[in-house]
Amino acid sequence: MINSKTNTSEQIRQKFIDYWNSDPRNAKQVPNASLVPLNDPTLLFVNSGMFPLVPYLGGEPHPLGTRLFNVQRCIRTIDIDEVGDYNHLVLFEMIGNWSLGDFTKAEQIPWMLKLYVEEFGLDINRLYVSVWGGNDEIPRDDEAIELWVKAFKEYGITAKFSDDLTNVPQGDEPSTKDWEFRIFPYGKSDNWWQRGPDTPGELGGPSSELFYDMGSILYETNEAIHINDDSGRYLEVGNNVFMEYKFTDDGKWVPMEQKNIDYGGGLDRIISAAQGKRSIYETDLFEPILNKIEMLSGNKYNPEVLDENLKSFRVVAEHARSSSFILADGVAPSGKDQGYILRRLIRRMIRHGMKLGIEDNFTKDLAIDVIGKMEGSYPHLKENEVFIIDEIEKEEIKFRRTLDKGVKEIEKMIENDSNFKLNGETAFFIYETYGFPLEMSLEEFGITEVSEVEKITKEFNLKQEEHKAASRAGAEGKFKGGLADSSNETTKLHTTHHLLLKALQMVLGEDVKQRGSNITGERLRIDFSYDSKLTPEQVEEVEKIVNEKIEDGLKVERVEMPKADAEKVGAEMEFGQKYPDIVSVYVIGDSVEDAFSKEFCGGPHVDNTSVIGEGGKKFKIKKQENIGSGLRRIKGVLV
Ligand code: ALA
Repeated sequence: MINSKTNTSEQIRQKFIDYWNSDPRNAKQVPNASLVPLNDPTLLFVNSGMFPLVPYLGGEPHPLGTRLFNVQRCIRTIDIDEVGDYNHLVLFEMIGNWSLGDFTKAEQIPWMLKLYVEEFGLDINRLYVSVWGGNDEIPRDDEAIELWVKAFKEYGITAKFSDDLTNVPQGDEPSTKDWEFRIFPYGKSDNWWQRGPDTPGELGGPSSELFYDMGSILYETNEAIHINDDSGRYLEVGNNVFMEYKFTDDGKWVPMEQKNIDYGGGLDRIISAAQGKRSIYETDLFEPILNKIEMLSGNKYNPEVLDENLKSFRVVAEHARSSSFILADGVAPSGKDQGYILRRLIRRMIRHGMKLGIEDNFTKDLAIDVIGKMEGSYPHLKENEVFIIDEIEKEEIKFRRTLDKGVKEIEKMIENDSNFKLNGETAFFIYETYGFPLEMSLEEFGITEVSEVEKITKEFNLKQEEHKAASRAGAEGKFKGGLADSSNETTKLHTTHHLLLKALQMVLGEDVKQRGSNITGERLRIDFSYDSKLTPEQVEEVEKIVNEKIEDGLKVERVEMPKADAEKVGAEMEFGQKYPDIVSVYVIGDSVEDAFSKEFCGGPHVDNTSVIGEGGKKFKIKKQENIGSGLRRIKGVLV
């Protein structure tokens, strides 16, 4: 419970807003933007508060001026599997403030300390900071060191700089006023910030982070601890980036004319520090939701015992919040992009709810609590309440049906083959196909012997790791935009290749399957199953269909989905190719259902087939060959 003197999350959020709104800061509030990024297809969700500010940090004037701040809802999907520990979240709130070439670190540093101590109510005795330690290109940030010394002095604290990072309280006694070493240097991996990779135009700069002594170690370590380690004793509660550098064409970081400040802090973490809670899940943000889960499950939330039960409570609570927020921004559960992440979150929430012993539909009840807790700061939750509740419930009903179906499929497997054995691979197949969790499969197959359970679990986890690596590769592919050769001509021929395969099937029959392909900037080549020579009429007909589709200007879209779903919708795949469990499918046409062509493919492709015909180009079959074993080869060009 929160005691009456402690600030609630609503008060802390409001104090941050009032602080930046008021004199002498007089900053303007940037609206809390939708989680679904506008005009940035490389990013599924807004993942930091500075996202809406990127163009302005580079020098473009911001309509609200040069002093800005915001509270921004963010989603980090990379952390889904970490949820359940003490401080990982998928949905979190980031507070931020910016100076676009206006005030400097000489103002920012004392203002920061004042904000954390006087507004958030953090104990000054427990605060520590890191600064940029310098490298060959950019020297140590001595100015920041001096400013921190001075700022701490205002509160009667002697704060000294120390090169020895382990010069911090080590035992289990919280810091006191007398601890003098509070400023520590870190290098590029910790105290340099930039959003993307080193590419010409990227902005970055040295940073200075604030840490709060939580008073005890969470994860035992044999080494001396320091503020930026993984022991869990010191919690990072804010980051000031002095965004003053730009990466140039000749591969160097050079100072920019406009010297910016970019501050970001995880509000949920700040709230846990301010409320003296070891974990973000024990703050008032989660209180009503955890209470409801206790009520529905008849189970007890006990943060003292780090077990599976605690993890499930946290997963259910977190995913109730993150899915309600994603729904509130208009995304519905589906098999692709944001909708697919949402589906995963809802399904994971249900599985963990079942583990806790909740038998009936419950996601709707939790969504109502999330809306109730957060609507003061996020009125759009209330405005979209009907959509949130309808969609979450629909997905729950669907998933429970899937689970029932999973049970039936398993029964069938056993019936058809009395020797059918559950192993890691089959368990993972069942999980991927029916969303049927490992524990449930073990139960259905009556596997209880510990060594057997361990063996299957190990194999299953291995499969899951492979799967994660594949989907990470997929996501990175999305970020980078595809294959090595992505020149315009090759890209056009890639899309033409998809049109051609479909046209061949239309003219020669559905049995035509792709068996190989090769594309350069000059021509495409396709090998396919068909055992006679194409007649001149057939060649003409195929060319005609491809050219019609180019002229029709059909939309080309990349969709990510589980392999099983892609097979279900009839996406073409190349025989003998190995595909990951999450695949990328290129759809040519208005929608997946109405598409002219659907193929498993990593791209790259044009956005619209009309691009292929630019400059009056037409597709032409140049050559056909018999390459044996019932296979034919066609080479085609755009002329
Ligand atoms: N942009 C900085 C961050 O996200 C403040 O940490």
